[in-house]
Amino acid sequence: MSDARFLLVLDEGTTSTRAILYTPTGEVIATAQEDITQHYPAPGLVEHNATEIWDRTLRCARAMVERAGGADRIEAIGVTNQRETVVAWDRATGKPLCRAIVWQDRRTEEHCGRLRSAGHEAVIQAQTGLLLDPYFSATKMAWILANIEGAAALGERLAFGTVESWLVWNLTGGLHISDVSNASRTSLFPLTATTWDDGLCGLFGVPRSALPEIVPSTGAFGTTKRDLFGAEIAITGLAGDQQAATIGQGCFAHGQTKATLGTGAFILANMGDQPPKSDHRLLGTVLCEVGGTRSFALEGSVFVAGSLVKWLRDSIGLLGDAAESEALARSVPDSGGVVVVPALSGLGAPYWLPDARGSISGLSFATTRAHIVRASLESVANVFHDLGRAFAADGAGWSVLRLDGGMSANDWIAQDIADVLAIPCERPVDVETTARGAAILAAIGAGLYGSLEDARPMLARSDVFMPAMAVDERTRRLADWRLAMNI
Ligand code: G3P
Repeated sequence: MSDARFLLVLDEGTTSTRAILYTPTGEVIATAQEDITQHYPAPGLVEHNATEIWDRTLRCARAMVERAGGADRIEAIGVTNQRETVVAWDRATGKPLCRAIVWQDRRTEEHCGRLRSAGHEAVIQAQTGLLLDPYFSATKMAWILANIEGAAALGERLAFGTVESWLVWNLTGGLHISDVSNASRTSLFPLTATTWDDGLCGLFGVPRSALPEIVPSTGAFGTTKRDLFGAEIAITGLAGDQQAATIGQGCFAHGQTKATLGTGAFILANMGDQPPKSDHRLLGTVLCEVGGTRSFALEGSVFVAGSLVKWLRDSIGLLGDAAESEALARSVPDSGGVVVVPALSGLGAPYWLPDARGSISGLSFATTRAHIVRASLESVANVFHDLGRAFAADGAGWSVLRLDGGMSANDWIAQDIADVLAIPCERPVDVETTARGAAILAAIGAGLYGSLEDARPMLARSDVFMPAMAVDERTRRLADWRLAMNI
């Protein structure tokens, strides 16, 4: 290989971890991927083994460093991650205290309910942009302190972090940082603050001493330990995966909106440099901080999307493989009146019903497997429709929606979303925009580009799906949905 220099992205998602090698102009050279084991110890509980996350991420990273021709061929590393998931470890040993509590985990519902009843939600929302829901990190941290033997007694040795924090700690041998976009998902970091808020830490019962230092999205954060890759590599970009995907989609201007269809589905609209305030149960979040400017996003978080297809395949055996869902959906003219409510781990935005459970309704003797699969896929666009209304009501209506993520590669779903939203949907030829966004941040942090705008050559070209559904069909479909949702 020549002297070419590359960017290495570590993209640690909910179901798999990846390392991807990019050229500085955004060409994907190679990818290594490993699955992450999902632990479901009881209904509502979702855990990951943090050591496995690190080991598998490292293995993927090493494969890509080798592919690049050695560590000195890597200009910089960008890290992006499943957000909110909490890892707790002992600073002295670097060992996790327990399994990581995953963002989907609902064990702190009661704690959230207590805080809600005590009237804290409005103040938390005003400060952090977030609602009181087990989704966010703070109550997960409090749960670990209260329930994991020895955690509280560790005192100053206790470290909490979201997954980028955990990876950077291991990559550098002890640097404890978190970037603003991940910090903004904890409930402990006000949208416009520079550090953790003492009042919020006190309210949730999380000691500040356990939390990482907060850094921007780009910068010379640290270097990898020499023994990991044979030479040090600079870490220069950090972002939560949904914020990274917003950047990877080129949503750099106010109002530009993307929807990532992964395990869940996450819609983020760039709201510029003013912190958003939602009156319709959407979230305000930090998008990124580049060159001293912090920008914000309005977010609709849907907990179940690709995981519904996985459930159809793995738990109830309705699909042989995920790709089969597209052909099955196309094999019938409609869902035959079947409606699937995808509340397999409660309902997120815009409903926020942690206790909701999934349902399949409208069954008859004429119902086939294809109808149920089609209705499951239709649920994505149905939820997006309701989210679209909430975004519009909050002053951030969509004229175009940019789709990405593994599930968006399904043409039927991309077209169905355009049809139900009645707006054009764009989809980049490379749907892995999360990793692309982290590559862009790493490139800026390494000084290869001066700003997000300068980094435009790294973006991928997109295809467009134009809405084509007849008005009465759309009206009927949404009426069935509202009936099933009881809204
Ligand atoms: O907020 C959770 C989100 O970051 C998870 O993303 O891609 O792992 O489903 P993903």
